[in-house]
Amino acid sequence: MLHYAMELSELIQVFKKKIVIEDSTLLMVWLYNSVYAIQDRCTHLGASLSKGTIDQDRVTCRSHGASFELSTGNLVEKPHIGPLKMPAKKAKTFPTVIKEGKIYIDL
Ligand code: FES
Repeated sequence: MLHYAMELSELIQVFKKKIVIEDSTLLMVWLYNSVYAIQDRCTHLGASLSKGTIDQDRVTCRSHGASFELSTGNLVEKPHIGPLKMPAKKAKTFPTVIKEGKIYIDL
């Protein structure tokens, strides 16, 4: 079911934004003329990915460096403390639809 998320013009201005729809907290990203929606909660220990960094096609959690591909949610860099790598799961991503300047998310 599609849910209104935010105005496209706002996301283009701020580049990334944390939003809440229903019971889901998402990170919205505008990158390479595309909109991405990924769960805001890191699959390692739950830190907010919206506080992380966006680089190329991925978001990196600032807590322990887990890195997720924005389009698929695939884990591309495991979390680590020093040289010790730890497991984490794939992050959930959500399809987006843009209609008349508004972004909708399929939850
Ligand atoms: S909570 Fe995100 S890498 Fe540990």
